[in-house]
Amino acid sequence: MSFQAPKGTFDWLPPKSERILAVREALVAPARQAGYGYIETPTFEDTELFARGVGESTDIVSKEMYTFPDKAGRSLTLRPEGTAPVVRAVLQHGLHNGQLPVKLWYSGSQYRYERAQKGRYRHFWQVGAEALGAEDPALDAELIVLAAGGFAGLGLKKVTLLLNTLGDKVCRPVYRAALQEFLRGLDLDETTRQRIEINPLRVLDDKRPEVQAQLEGVPLVVDHLCAACKAYHEDVRALLSATGVAFTDDPRLVRGLDYYTRTTFEFVHGGLGSQSAVGGGGRYDGLSEMLGGPALPSVGWALGADRTFLAMEAEGLLEDAAASRVQVYGVALGDDARRRMFLLVDEVRRAGISADMSFGGKGLKGAMKGADRSGARFALILGERDLAAQAVQLKDLTTAEQTEVPLARVVDVLKGKCSDPHA
Ligand code: HAM
Repeated sequence: MSFQAPKGTFDWLPPKSERILAVREALVAPARQAGYGYIETPTFEDTELFARGVGESTDIVSKEMYTFPDKAGRSLTLRPEGTAPVVRAVLQHGLHNGQLPVKLWYSGSQYRYERAQKGRYRHFWQVGAEALGAEDPALDAELIVLAAGGFAGLGLKKVTLLLNTLGDKVCRPVYRAALQEFLRGLDLDETTRQRIEINPLRVLDDKRPEVQAQLEGVPLVVDHLCAACKAYHEDVRALLSATGVAFTDDPRLVRGLDYYTRTTFEFVHGGLGSQSAVGGGGRYDGLSEMLGGPALPSVGWALGADRTFLAMEAEGLLEDAAASRVQVYGVALGDDARRRMFLLVDEVRRAGISADMSFGGKGLKGAMKGADRSGARFALILGERDLAAQAVQLKDLTTAEQTEVPLARVVDVLKGKCSDPHA
């Protein structure tokens, strides 16, 4: 029997694995450029952090967490998201006692026991950015602009931004009561009726046509906003319009985490089918207090790297992936030549040129195949006769042109050739 990666997980293998690294980096590049600092938190946390932070009534907490006792009996959970851990770390280290807002970015794997399908995994990768400790529409707008910039930087054209507001602790309870009253009058199954009492907003997100059909005329949060929330939302919208970031108002946009207040948003991609959200986020003014901290109004987002990769595939942005692992490839024939090549390749790498060589005692034909597959532009071929002459054959693999170069000079020659884009 051979092992398989667990259900809902997959491996990133070369050459695609190189591309996903670049995707993760590009998605957070605008946030880094805006001065957000890097934070790394553990992959597992106290279970209670997510129960309180993300919310007991969410699918994430009630159904999808990887929770386990450690050997001392503590209940730990593999992180299903990054925001509660970031707030935990900020409070633990007192970062909020310094300059506000605290601006942080992260990149890491998340774990949710979801129904696995294309684009929905049990182990997936998010990059995220959070700004903690300021209530300012410009901060919400900044984060949205930075996320949009991440997608744009990858060349993605079909990402749309959906925008909503959920109100605050003044107007949300009033809206919630109005929504519950409306929903209680509908013809719904028992589970959905229970959801009305626990998390009525989730019912808006129910994809079943028989439920959607009954939602005509459902009260919307935009019609119940208090004056402060309305003004705040208008400011965010105006700033986004002014920067030229296109958005669609989506008054029914519901997020799967309970901590949101006011601004919420999602980035969706047209080419991904049902798992279309490539990123999402919003304001979470009450989360710090829910975790035992002081009032710390905050806003942030997380972007799904795996789904962004699928979006790039859908837009044909990954096709020109010329797989070039290294620039130079060493081919040595005979034991003495192999030992010398080992040193030469090391020297080439130290000069800042990527290089690999043939291993496993292959003959000339097998070694040259390795050179071709590596995508290298140049092969260094060293036979016993070359070694005796203290020279090496430098072969340009694109033109098949071959020249003899003294061993002592080969690094310099390569430096010249590899730095000249027209070589
Ligand atoms: P989220 O909407 O749950 O938000 O996740 C953000 C993104 O992660 C999604 O839009 C999606 O691209 C990706 N994602 C989520 N679940 C999966 C999955 N099972 N497989 C593949 N990709 C997935 C959050 O996690 C919040 N912490 C975002 C946030 C930060 N809000 C404020 N600050």
